[in-house]
Amino acid sequence: LEMSVIGVPMDFGQNRRGVDMGPSAMRYAGAIQRLEALGHDVRDEGDISIDQTNAGHDTNTKLRNLPEVIETSTKLADKVSEVLSNNRFPLVLGGDHSIAIGTLAGLAKNYENLGVIWYDAHADMNTEETSPSGNIHGMPLAVSMGLGHDKLVNIHGYAPKVKPENIVIIGARSVDPGERDLIKEKGMKVFTMHEIDKLGMTEVMNQAMWYLRDREVDGVHLSLDLDGLDPLYTPGVGTPVPGGISYRESHLAMEMLASSNLITSAEFVEVNPILDEKNKTADVAVALMGSLFGESLV
Ligand code: ARG
Ligand code: MN
Ligand code: MN
Ligand code: MN
Repeated sequence: LEMSVIGVPMDFGQNRRGVDMGPSAMRYAGAIQRLEALGHDVRDEGDISIDQTNAGHDTNTKLRNLPEVIETSTKLADKVSEVLSNNRFPLVLGGDHSIAIGTLAGLAKNYENLGVIWYDAHADMNTEETSPSGNIHGMPLAVSMGLGHDKLVNIHGYAPKVKPENIVIIGARSVDPGERDLIKEKGMKVFTMHEIDKLGMTEVMNQAMWYLRDREVDGVHLSLDLDGLDPLYTPGVGTPVPGGISYRESHLAMEMLASSNLITSAEFVEVNPILDEKNKTADVAVALMGSLFGESLV
C-alpha cells in the first residue's frame, strides 16, 4: 500500500489530559517502521496542529471544548481528503475519539456508500441531549450520522457522512440509555461482548464483513478505539471498561480484515501514555496495525 500517516494530538474531546500524546507514543512504539517492514510505502505527514490556548478553560459542560473540536475536525478532514486525492491510504493516529468526526468528514465525500467498523467498548452515539459527560469523544458516531450540534454535523459542508445501516459496532459493553434508543430506532448492527463470547470472534468478523458487503459499500473505514480491548491489555485509555476483547481475538479480527481487502482507511485512537504502563497500549496498537496491514499474510 501507499500509506499516509496523520497524527492528531487531540485531547479536547474528553477530560483526562495526556491522550494528545497518543500519536507520539505510537510512533515511539515503531508504527512507521512496522508498516515499512511489510513493504508498504509509508509517508509520515506529521501532526495536525492544535491550538492549546484555551486548554482547561472551557465552561460549556454540554459540549466541552466545542470550538477546538470544530477547528481540529475541519483541519483533519482537509488533510484526509488531500491524502485520498493523492491515492494514498489514510492511517490516522489519535488523540481522543472525537477526531473520527474529522476523519469521516474527509473520507465520506470521496465515497458513494462508505461503510464503518467501530471497534470500541462504547457506541459513541451520544448527542448533547443524551451525553452523561458532555465529552465530544462520546459523540462522533452520532455526529457522523447527522445527529448533534449543527457545526459538528456539517463539518466539510455536508451531512450525514455515513448511513446508520452501513455501520457495524464491535465490542460494545458500555452503552448509555440514549445511545441504546438510537441503536434500536435505527436498527443498527451491533456485536456486543455477548455476541463475541457466544459466537466467537471468527463468526462475528465473518458476519460483520458479509453484512457490509451486502450493503454494497465502496469503502470501509476501521475506527479502532483501544478501549475496545480489555484494560488488561490496553490500560492506557481514559475510559476503560472491564470484560473486553482479548489481545488474541483482536489480532484475529485484524488478520481477517487484512485478508478480506475490505478496509480502505483506518484510525487508532484513545492511546493515553500518561495512564499507561510503559507504553504497553501503544505497543498493542502498533502490533494490531502489523496484523491489519498484512503481517500474517505470508
Ligand atoms: N458514553 C460515555 C460518554 O458519552 C463514554 C464515552 C467514551 N468514548 C470514548 N471514545 N472513549 O461520555
Ligand atoms: Mn493537553
Ligand atoms: Mn471507547
Ligand atoms: Mn470510542
